[in-house]
Amino acid sequence: MKNQSMAPPTTHQELLAFVKETAAICQPDQIHWCDGSEAEYQALCQALVDKGTFIKLNPEKRPGSYACFSDPSDVARVEDRTYICSLRKEDAGPTNNWMAPKEMKATLRPLMTGSMKGRTMYVIPFCMGPIGSPLAKMGVELTDSEYVVINMKIMTRMGSPVLAALGADGDFVKCIHTVGAPLAPGQADVRWPCNPTVKYIVHYPEERAIVSYGSGYGGNALLGKKCFALRIASSLAREEGWLAEHMLILGAESPAGEKTYIAAAFPSACGKTNFAMLIPPKAFEGWKITTVGDDIAWVKPGADGRLYAINPEAGYFGVAPGTNYQSNPNAMYTIAKNTIFTNVAITPDLDVWWEGLTKEAPAGLTAWTGQPYDPTSGKPAAHANARFTTPASQCPSIDPDWEKPEGVPISAFIFGGRRSTTVPLVYQAVNWSYGVYLAATMGSEMTAAAFGEVGKVRRDPFAMLPFCGYHMADYFNHWLQFGRTLSNPPRIFGVNWFRKNADGKFSWPGFGENMRVLKWVIERVRGRVSAVESPIGWMPRFRDLDWAGSDFSRADFDQIMTVDREAWKKELMGHEELFEQMFDKLPKEFFYMRELLLSSLWRSPERWNLAAETA
Ligand code: OXD
Ligand code: MN
Repeated sequence: MKNQSMAPPTTHQELLAFVKETAAICQPDQIHWCDGSEAEYQALCQALVDKGTFIKLNPEKRPGSYACFSDPSDVARVEDRTYICSLRKEDAGPTNNWMAPKEMKATLRPLMTGSMKGRTMYVIPFCMGPIGSPLAKMGVELTDSEYVVINMKIMTRMGSPVLAALGADGDFVKCIHTVGAPLAPGQADVRWPCNPTVKYIVHYPEERAIVSYGSGYGGNALLGKKCFALRIASSLAREEGWLAEHMLILGAESPAGEKTYIAAAFPSACGKTNFAMLIPPKAFEGWKITTVGDDIAWVKPGADGRLYAINPEAGYFGVAPGTNYQSNPNAMYTIAKNTIFTNVAITPDLDVWWEGLTKEAPAGLTAWTGQPYDPTSGKPAAHANARFTTPASQCPSIDPDWEKPEGVPISAFIFGGRRSTTVPLVYQAVNWSYGVYLAATMGSEMTAAAFGEVGKVRRDPFAMLPFCGYHMADYFNHWLQFGRTLSNPPRIFGVNWFRKNADGKFSWPGFGENMRVLKWVIERVRGRVSAVESPIGWMPRFRDLDWAGSDFSRADFDQIMTVDREAWKKELMGHEELFEQMFDKLPKEFFYMRELLLSSLWRSPERWNLAAETA
């Protein structure tokens, strides 16, 4: 989009100053104010095709869609390069990287100086949440990446309507992003510009500002998502009395037409998108799951004492590998058109492919590396973190109220990790404080060596470990305090779809079968089904779950629900390890909660299970 710098289409003085100051430092060749129009989107996609970054996919098979391959150094979020630069170190806490804002600014200054030379700086006014919603917040991202503009168009509401909503003095979060790859005059660009060695993802919570340097990849570069909607928003939420959470939001409609909304937190790569778009088993005729969001929820108390949630995003930035017509048909229909694919493999007829899409890899693939794929190489054709960026509005299961300005009422929170042992299929916290404890101590077994020893449990409180913009223990306190103000708080549940049997196989079939657990959760919330007290909370008996059309056995259920005292003693030691790190601010409730858990484990049989219960 070679044009002269445009006249700024706003009179917002703070915004004008922000654009001017950033341009003076980053020195782009020109400035483009994004209007968010379809024409602008198409022109930018074409510009990336012309540059070789985008491959236009087969218009018959994948209309309006493009694929691209990133630099091999730029394939995922970079947690070790992510900083919370609060004024005081103790406000960032022990689980975030921290640097004093002054020092960080001095570090970034030489990197940012001239960083956009030879490029266009795009001004993206964007809104997280439906424009005009009392729960929504606005931001402006300045970026030198066309890929970012295109993805932000799908993932947020952006352009002229947002500028109009900002008016002359509206509040906005300041976001600066550069790929950190300036071009000398006449220098040809590369397919995926980034800085392969230096990356910084920096948050200044007090200033409500974000600076991202060196990466063009999703979570590092689309600053509305993890950086704003989770890290900055969590810090805002604490101040303002609401919650910004790493949660999907789904609606469940019963055959009688009764609707229950649930928000659920799972660490990255635990199938959140699948759960948000679940299709119930055939025997659950008349039940319907609808999708409000697949990754982030902003939750506020309503005037009626209930909690209301919006999805701040407008699209899904989902993991492609493993997605197929069995695991998630709704996602497959969503990505049928108007979708950007990053780091997937490409078929000879210009469609996409990834591991798990079909059993066999088609012949003649181009791998995510851009090279012809060699199936004997033992390497995957698509990168394990290959992604699709796709409009939420295309999702067949989209909830009719997904853009309702006041949000949808939340009846339950579900928390789940990936645990092959110890944690049962489902259990309910006996009260809010225990629910907060349960969520704070959740963990997942590591599947990628990037985070440490594979198989070891990584504690991921509330699935927020990489996304909390302040001290994690302050966050726990915020949740406890928040609960004290609610007259009718959502009930809190723990789930684990990933427990294995003695043969090392997954015991639970997962996917659509999770509906059986969901139904129990809904019935519990509505006070219609009983449960028994286990050493760690309320649990359904076999007969409390709806097994219509299932051959899952009572014995398997008992196995998957067992609370093993020795395993749980170890588990509590794991909680202790987490607590030690944040002793300075840990809620006192947590120490007592741990003791209470220990005491109830001691009172129970060594292997507590439901076998003794009548069927
Ligand atoms: C995501 C993540 O990309 O959680 O949503 O990593
Ligand atoms: Mn996520």
